[in-house]
Amino acid sequence: MGLARAIDLDLAFAEAAKVPSIHPKTYLGSGKVEALAAAIAGDDVGLLVFNGPLNAGQQRNLETALSCKVIDRTGLILEIFGARARTAEGALQVERAALEYQRGRLVRSWTHLERQRGGFGFLGGPGETQIEADRRHISARIKRIEKSLATITRTRGLHRQARARVPYPVVATVGYTNAGKSTLFNRLTDSTVFAEDMLFATLDPTMRGVTLPSGRTIILSDTVGFISGLPAQLVAAFRATLEEVIHADLILHVRDFAHPDSAAQREDVVRILADLCPEDENPPPVIEVLNKIDLLDDEAREFAANSAQRLEGHIAFSALTGEGVDALLGAIDHELSKSKAVVEIDVPLEDGAAIAWLYERGEVHDRQDMDATARFTVGLDAADLGRFRKRLKVAE
Ligand code: GTP
Repeated sequence: MGLARAIDLDLAFAEAAKVPSIHPKTYLGSGKVEALAAAIAGDDVGLLVFNGPLNAGQQRNLETALSCKVIDRTGLILEIFGARARTAEGALQVERAALEYQRGRLVRSWTHLERQRGGFGFLGGPGETQIEADRRHISARIKRIEKSLATITRTRGLHRQARARVPYPVVATVGYTNAGKSTLFNRLTDSTVFAEDMLFATLDPTMRGVTLPSGRTIILSDTVGFISGLPAQLVAAFRATLEEVIHADLILHVRDFAHPDSAAQREDVVRILADLCPEDENPPPVIEVLNKIDLLDDEAREFAANSAQRLEGHIAFSALTGEGVDALLGAIDHELSKSKAVVEIDVPLEDGAAIAWLYERGEVHDRQDMDATARFTVGLDAADLGRFRKRLKVAE
């Protein structure tokens, strides 16, 4: 259900069904299919999601019997990844996984046809020819995708370039699905004032500007959630949707601290983030948000509060009640200000916008005007410095 919400589907109805034996044609037995058809008839249901794996034939038969689109869990996850993939590489990885998923299903129904004929596959009926053609088409497309993936350079320019033009540090949330990332996202954007909506109107909807109490502006970026029991064929696509997180200036790792598997989920997230980080780059700093503390009993709550106090970069939090929001905003500010370096930069005098930006974003210690340039001695965050250099292409 959490998964369905992740792409803004309105959940009309959910039911757990016992499936004593899988019906080859419709997965569920005919009585169950009829009951389901009756149950959804009143609501305007456009999509039915099955938690179990459906083959292509079952999917089609169910669609006919229920008069609505039917997908299974893998299909839904692919939809989510597709909606969330932001880099060119991410989109290609997701497309490849989707095609492989599709191809696997064609093979299954093809062998099924073959079995029906009791043949060896070289008799070639019209059905087979079509499926073979589809399969070849899909394989060719997968090959092309693999080629494109191979030529995408390690620097994965586009996305970061686009962001380099936005002169604010990026703070990315990661965490298991249902950990409370979206609730936290809304809580942070609601509890702060942000005036420059125009700038962000053009950005991805999963990014928003937030002005911290100190006056520092950040871009908060939501990512696709970790999913327990992720089908193995989707792991690469999932990682690709996360790739850009590693280039954020700061990561908020949102944990459902009230979840019985909280510790194991944490390990998963930490491991995957570490795997994603290229060896020659420093991973961004991480703040662990121990979310949902409102659900804990007194003892567990005290434990969370103590952990947060003892461990730097840990915040006991409730996205629902707002408890801990000031501490979190403060911690974000603190982390981002840690890395300020003082550098000398020459800026063309005619570039008034750049000079204004330096005064706004940096701590200007000194300025010496020369013929065509001004030499600034200025303290800047590492991220800001990178962006500034990129924008100006100035020498230090
Ligand atoms: P995905 O979008 O699926 O990745 O999930 P998410 O991590 O964005 O979780 P979301 O914010 O949608 O929250 C999941 C559920 O947890 C919702 O029902 C929230 O109301 C609830 N929730 C979030 N934060 C808190 C919290 O601090 N306390 C309590 N009690 N519930 C919370």
